[in-house]
Amino acid sequence: MDRVIIFDTTLRDGEQSPGASLTVEEKVDIAHQLERLGVDVIEAGFPISSPGDFQAVQRIAREVRGATICGLARAVPADVDRAYEALKEAEDPRIHVFISSSDIHMAHQIRKGRGEILELTGAMVRRAKGYVSNVEFSPMDATRSDREFLVEILRVAIEAGATTLNIPDTVGYAMPEEFGDLIAYLIEHVPGAEKVVFSAHCHDDLGLAVANSLAAVRRGARQVECTINGIGERAGNCSLEEVVMALRTRSEYFGIDTRIDTTQLYQTSRMVSNYTGIIVQPNKAVVGANAFAHASGIHQDGILKERTTFEIMDPRDVGLRGSTLVLGKLSGRHAFKARLEELGYHLSPEDLNRAFARFKELADKKKVVTDEDLAMIVSDEVRSPAEIYRLDFVQVTCGDHSIPTATVRLIGPDGVALCDSSTGTGPVDAVYKAVNRLIKVENRLIEYSVQSVTAGLDAIGEVTIRIEADGRIFGGRGADTDIIVASTRAYVNALNKLIAARQAAAVGR
Ligand code: KIV
Ligand code: ZN
Repeated sequence: MDRVIIFDTTLRDGEQSPGASLTVEEKVDIAHQLERLGVDVIEAGFPISSPGDFQAVQRIAREVRGATICGLARAVPADVDRAYEALKEAEDPRIHVFISSSDIHMAHQIRKGRGEILELTGAMVRRAKGYVSNVEFSPMDATRSDREFLVEILRVAIEAGATTLNIPDTVGYAMPEEFGDLIAYLIEHVPGAEKVVFSAHCHDDLGLAVANSLAAVRRGARQVECTINGIGERAGNCSLEEVVMALRTRSEYFGIDTRIDTTQLYQTSRMVSNYTGIIVQPNKAVVGANAFAHASGIHQDGILKERTTFEIMDPRDVGLRGSTLVLGKLSGRHAFKARLEELGYHLSPEDLNRAFARFKELADKKKVVTDEDLAMIVSDEVRSPAEIYRLDFVQVTCGDHSIPTATVRLIGPDGVALCDSSTGTGPVDAVYKAVNRLIKVENRLIEYSVQSVTAGLDAIGEVTIRIEADGRIFGGRGADTDIIVASTRAYVNALNKLIAARQAAAVGR
């Protein structure tokens, strides 16, 4: 059977989701999980964009085997050189060069004419080719570009040595049939098209990223660029799990498959959601909490008689097990470590100690500790960015006949304990005001959400927040069986990121 290359850009385009910034350690964990999932290409980052991005691409290039590792570069020499520098230890490095090709971008964004764009394309693809044999080229905003100019720019890229031509629907503007037609047109008209792989890169502004990508595959694209949970710039990118399961479930229709081990999909989705703090909507196809939940009596009756009456996919095929009971109070360190490794978390001995201590604390409060709880422990306890302020304790009084009051104690950067109290309109408001009295960093809370990680009254509550300051959004998350504690952790987590970003900006100045 013919095969589609799965190019995952969770760590690059996905990380461009507002507030989704990931630490280097988190990116390395995700890259290892993507390797287990069987993706063909991992776009690990945009090395010139920040020292953190460079470091993450370099670590992933060194450590991950079995997948091509890709780094993004604008069509400028410094970007291409920096991308190679980060990628050079990869088993199979790929440099991805892009430049705008639509008139609207050329006039208002990049401010260059067609001739200059063609020159830069040829020169920068050749420069990348001087470093690596595997070069991808993307004409940004391709779907709003002049077709004849697209043919020309892609011809130049092939002549300069590009091996993959990616066609981005940068602003999510295309319709499925139209996008499929564009791919077929380019394959037919670009000289040398038979020597390269055509790729689809679709954004979801009109909710059509998956449909557009599948239409592209039908018309000859053999690479799809996508992200876990469909995260990404604005409305996001094509969702990996949806496109892969569509190709697998309807193999008789597409006649084409991927190398993906679909049983790793759910775990990968959870890891990305935990680390980015971007919640998966319950009705999300394939990995949403309700994707395999049957509410109507007629459907339940059908499922009990024969699963396939109302289920087109087997939940086990996407990694959902019947029972999620894993560990409990009596489980030892060995079983804990083994289960974490099965879930894709390989911790250093010190990190394992911290995670195990948190597990024991949780197992005292909760009868069973599930896989979701374990993932939460790792993201909350181990992988949170360097703690500048650490929550020592929080105490609240609230109720319908009292004024909500919170006392918070934090350990500051120099190890000194800071304590203060505040009242508020509710317990969370009181906590946040008390924290503000201790960490005097102005910000605006723009999103607060709480969800339970698993079912049951003793479930862990996962709080995700977003705050805005300095024109940027910072995400924070916290987890605990007590949602006030989880809310405090989430706020301190977001403030730590904000302060770290200010410190990094001050160093760079
Ligand atoms: O959406 C886009 O155009 C991109 C390019 C950098 C490929 O992400
Ligand atoms: Zn994109």
